[in-house]
Parts: sequence; structure tokens; C-alpha cells
Amino acid sequence: MASADSYDVIVIGAGPAGYVAAIRCAQLGMQVACIERRGVAAGGEAAVLGGTCLNVGCIPSKALLDSSQRFLDASSESLASHGVRTAEVSLDLSAMMARKEQVVQQLTRGISGLFKGNKVVPLAGEATLLSGRAVELRVPNAEPRRLQAKHVILATGSEPMALPSAPFDAERIVDSTGGLSFGEVPARLGVIGAGAIGLELGSVWSRLGAEVVIIEALSDFLPAVDRPVAREAAKLFAAQGLDIRLGSRLESASVDADGVVISYTDAQGEQHSERFDRLIVAVGRQPCSDGLLAPDAGVTIDESGRIPVDAHCATALDGVWAVGDLVRGPMLAHKGAEEGVMVAERIAGKPATLNYDTIPGVVYTHPEVAWVGRHEEQLQAAGIPCRVGAFSFAANGRALAAGEAKGLVRIIADAETDRIYGCHIVGPGAADLVQQLVIAMEFGASAEDLALIVTAHPTVSEAVHEAALAVDQRALHALNRRR
Ligand code: FAD
Ligand code: NAI
Repeated sequence: MASADSYDVIVIGAGPAGYVAAIRCAQLGMQVACIERRGVAAGGEAAVLGGTCLNVGCIPSKALLDSSQRFLDASSESLASHGVRTAEVSLDLSAMMARKEQVVQQLTRGISGLFKGNKVVPLAGEATLLSGRAVELRVPNAEPRRLQAKHVILATGSEPMALPSAPFDAERIVDSTGGLSFGEVPARLGVIGAGAIGLELGSVWSRLGAEVVIIEALSDFLPAVDRPVAREAAKLFAAQGLDIRLGSRLESASVDADGVVISYTDAQGEQHSERFDRLIVAVGRQPCSDGLLAPDAGVTIDESGRIPVDAHCATALDGVWAVGDLVRGPMLAHKGAEEGVMVAERIAGKPATLNYDTIPGVVYTHPEVAWVGRHEEQLQAAGIPCRVGAFSFAANGRALAAGEAKGLVRIIADAETDRIYGCHIVGPGAADLVQQLVIAMEFGASAEDLALIVTAHPTVSEAVHEAALAVDQRALHALNRRR
């Protein structure tokens, strides 16, 4: 070991969980270093901050989702139905990709600026936790450095899970990162997994002209989502041309000069084979914990590769914390970031907690699917009597005016107390609409509380208001069904 450096806090990983933890610790007066390996392995001297989310996740996928939706709007009947005629529309995929990269760079550089302004020390390299809250930092062609901290926050995130039956080859069979940067639109794209990545990337390439087939092992579509909402979403996506084959198991995939041939068994047990130009495998992500812990570090890893933590993200070892995709719970940027804040505050002696029952989920398709809390079937299975209020965007004036009158809102509340348990939406602006319910649930609101709130007219928010009224069969712009 060449030298020793001491910090109040060392954060390992500069994704949304790690960089937010580092900034909050610095705001609370601590001396903080944040170690990141991205960029170093590629020969760069400075680490690239922002993690999966900013570099190859949330942000580039949303850039492509927005760009591809504009292309679709301009080239389909959608604009014409508003009375707007366009000349022939063509795609400049490299300009679309360049814009995506520019958005990514602007945001990752923004994190560097925030680190500078908050005096967080960014350290480039790969880190391993040693015993006694020491950290080894390695960069290629240099002696490892030994750092020391009073607290260490592990925030190394996750990486795509591989399927033995369809190993990545970085060309024809790719992970989500590969699926964000094809050089041309594949004529036929196969996607394994109808989760968030499969649906979002499947939508991007379908809008740009690819024929997309999604193979999904489960027979239920989007199981975290209320059934009628998931069924409506499946119908809308099918109408958009996404061919989603539920209950289908991939058997094998083989690459040849022309593309990829897969074989799979469908829900009836019949064997099929399909040829694609490219195949995206999106079957979940696994925590990045390989090589993170020295054998005597004193922190364990569970069988799924995650670091076990308590409700406040403390590991079994005093002064060592773990946050984000590396620990239990949904693999979402906002969940990791809030854990980062909670840990920083607890290190500073504040009684911070995080309400895991109100973490929203969103699939950024068009329309979006968004939800918070439990759905009707989950409550029924738990034996909790509930009432549901539903409202369709077909009866919402603003959605109709915009030509976006598809989908519905469902609010689920306790049958006795009326306290809201969850809200599930597919429809225009669902990601932002669901946030109203996150706030309401945080404040312990009842459906009646929401029903009593004045909602601006005409807005898509009125669909949420009407769904809240419908819980008590008081919807005004739809007929209330007798229970
Ligand atoms: P990460 O963002 O993975 O960051 C961890 C960082 O640690 C990485 O930069 C890694 O290089 C670094 N690291 C790992 N090991 C070491 C080591 N030993 N030493 C030094 N550095 C190390 N979530 C949402 O909420 N909304 C979305 O819209 C969304 N879209 C997504 C789209 C795609 C295509 C993908 C793949 C993911 C998406 N996610 C989305 C998930 C989101 O990206 C993750 O939940 C989030 O990035 C997790 O944050 P994290 O800080 O825990 O880990
Ligand atoms: P996921 O867990 O959301 O979906 C994976 C899907 O693949 C599941 O439906 C699963 O049943 C299916 N599957 C698994 N093995 C299979 C097999 N052998 N054959 C066919 N289907 C199979 O994982 P995904 O989409 O890879 O995303 C990874 C993580 O990234 C998720 O945790 C997600 O939360 C996060 N993410 C979030 C986004 C968002 O918030 N909008 C966008 C993209 C990713």
C-alpha cells in the first residue's frame, strides 16, 4: 500500500444511491470521498459519475423514448388527426443517438459540478472494503491505495443478468446497454423479458420501425400492477404492434451470419422457433457485489448477491451501510437516492426513515403505466377488505382534447376506514398523476380526502379525482356501478 487517506465517509459507487448519499453527507458537514470505476476501466483518468441510471439506464432510455415518440407522432396518423399534415418524415438515427449522448453527458458533468460545489472528493478506480472500515482503491498500472473512513457506504448498484441459453455476444445478443445504441433499426427485434426494460426498449425500436416480439416467462403481464390496469396496458401495447408472448420459455438462441435464431416453448407447451436481427435479453439485474468485500471485511452477501441490511440500510457491521440496487427492495433510482439521503442523515445522528410502502413504479411506455402501493388482488389475498374506484380516460375531457383518451385510473382503499392502499394507472401522464397518490398516502389520506380536493378543469388529474369519488360510488362523469 502506497499511502493512507482518511475521510469521515467513503462512498463506493457514484450512481443515484451513492452520489446522492455523498452530496447529503457533505451538506451535513462531513468530509466525503466517492469512488467510481466507470470510465477508468475504459482508460479514462477521471471517473464517469451518475451510475447505471445516468449513463446506461433511466436517462438514455427516456431520451430515446421521447425521441422515438416524436418520430412516431410525426409519421403516423396521430398528427394528421389533429389537422396537422407533414411532408414525408425520415429518421436520422445517428442524430437521435447523438442527442441521447449529449443529454447523458450534460447530466453526468452536472454531478461532477455538484461534487465540486459540495467538496465531495471523486476518486477514480475500483474499490474493495477491507476490515476495520478501510478501503482499497485500485487503478490499472498503479499501486493500490489504502483509504480509511469512519463510515463506508456501499452503493455499487447492479448489472444485467445473463441467460445461459442466450449468452451476450455484444453484437446480435445484447443487454439493455447494447439495446440503447443499435447503429440501425433492426427489421425484426426479439426481446426476452416483458419487464420495464423489455417494454421500454421494445417500444423505442417498434416506434422506429422494427417488428418486435417479446418473450415472457410469466403468464401474468406486469404482476406488480392491478390486474385490470395491466390487462388494459397489454391491450394498448398489442395495438401498438408489440407482440408479447406470455408464458413462453426460452430454450436456446444461436447466432449466425444473418442474425439470431431462438427456440422457445409457449404457454401450451408447444415448441417454436423465431429468427431476429437482434435479441435484447432483459430478464432482470443482479447486484454488483463481486470483489467488493475482502474475506475479512466483516460484511456478508446473501445468496442473491445482495448485502443484507436493516430498515435503515445499516449492515451487520457498525459504520458500514449499503444502499440502492445492492440491497433488498425494488431496483429503482429514486428508491436508492432516498436510501442515500436516509443513511447520510443517520450518520449525522438524525432519526431519518424511509417509507417503503409508498415507492412509486413507472413503465415509461406511451401511455405510461404507473402505480404505488398494493393492488386489489394482493389485498384480497391478504384478506383485507377493500373498495375500488375506477375511472376511464375515455370520459376525461382533457385526454380527449389531446387525442390521448386511453387507459384508466384505479384507486384502492380500505373498505372500513377508506384509507388509500394503492393507485394503479395506465394513461396520459400516469407517471406524474401517480405522484398525487404518493403524497396522499404519505399523509395517510382517505379516498374521501382526495375526493374533497378541488381539481383544475380541464386536466387529466380529474381522472384521479373521479376515481377517488368512485371509491364511494360518487363519480360524476361516469355511471356508478352498484356493488
Ligand atoms: P448504479 O446506478 O448501478 O451505480 C453503481 C455504480 O457503482 C456504478 O457506476 C458502478 O460503476 C460503480 N461500481 C460498482 N462496483 C464498484 C467498485 N467495486 N468500485 C467502484 N465503483 C463501483 N430506474 C428508475 O427509477 N427509473 C427509470 O426510468 C429507470 N430506467 C432504467 C432503464 C434501464 C435501461 C436500466 C438498465 C435501468 C433503469 N432504472 C430505472 C434502474 C436504475 O438505473 C437503477 O435502479 C439505479 O441506477 C440504481 O442506482 P445505484 O446507485 O444503486 O446503482
Ligand atoms: P424486470 O424484473 O422488470 O423484468 C424481467 C422480466 O423478465 C420479468 O417479467 C421476468 O418474468 C422475465 N423473465 C425472466 N427470466 C426469463 C426467461 N428465461 N424467459 C423469459 N422471460 C424471463 O427486469 P428488467 O426489465 O430487466 O429491468 C431490470 C431492473 O431495472 C428492474 O428492477 C427495473 O425496476 C429497473 N428498471 C426500471 C425502469 C423504470 O423504472 N421505468 C426501466 C428499466 C429498468
